[in-house]
Amino acid sequence: MDGAQTPNTSPVLILLGPPGAGKGTQARMLEEQFGFVQLSTGDLLRAAVAAGTEAGQRARSVMEAGELVSDEIVIAILRDRMAQPDCAKGVILDGFPRTAVQAEALDRLLEETGQKIDAAVSLEVDDAAMVTRISGRYTCGTCGEGYHDSFKQPKAKGTCDKCGGTEFKRRADDNAETVASRLDAYHAQTAPLIAYYKAQGALIGIDAMGEIDDIARKMTAIVKTATA
Ligand code: AP5
Repeated sequence: MDGAQTPNTSPVLILLGPPGAGKGTQARMLEEQFGFVQLSTGDLLRAAVAAGTEAGQRARSVMEAGELVSDEIVIAILRDRMAQPDCAKGVILDGFPRTAVQAEALDRLLEETGQKIDAAVSLEVDDAAMVTRISGRYTCGTCGEGYHDSFKQPKAKGTCDKCGGTEFKRRADDNAETVASRLDAYHAQTAPLIAYYKAQGALIGIDAMGEIDDIARKMTAIVKTATA
């Protein structure tokens, strides 16, 4: 592979955490600050569902039930996205990997490209608070900026701070019943990755129960150190 001849030193950051932990919120802030690309497998899957691709059709009902989409589909989607030129700026993986199989596939992919994981940041939160966070979430329909009914509202009511858009949307899986399944899936299949990345020396745990801006300051410091 070409990448093997010219070492690729683009940063790779992983955000781990249960649904509602703030992975997307923090990833978007880091993207803006450092120029890295936020790669959310949830967003990529929702785009595939909306486009009606074969993978999207297979993923739809699984996502609606709050379960994990098959490793095969997710790894293929992630691999394709990481091969696109903008990812040379560095990537923030938001919601990937989520299983041991995905973590091992990522290790193999990075071995091929010559990259390494600069940090795997685990956002530590209380499950009970996640239902409140998720049930109040909405996003700008134009640029995807995330908001919350109580914790983060646009500065001008009804207008996106980032792009001025006036259409907002809520996710189909953001309801109390599905959130419970998503939390179960996290604890059974994703939480074990904390030990996986600890063993690799890449894990950084962060208390993510505070204010969004305070957590963002901690994240900035972590990223600066990890990518220095
Ligand atoms: P995905 O889209 O990845 O959803 P998730 O992991 O459930 O995470 P969320 O997007 O719900 O939460 P978040 O941590 O990004 O929180 P956010 O920043 O938005 O996955 C959806 C589905 O796709 C999965 O269930 C699965 O089916 C499938 N899937 C995706 N990836 C997969 C994979 N790798 N393998 C298999 N299947 C996969 O914040 C939430 C809200 O809280 C927002 O409103 C925000 O404004 C607010 N908020 C954020 N931080 C704070 C704070 N500190 N204080 C108060 N409010 C806050």
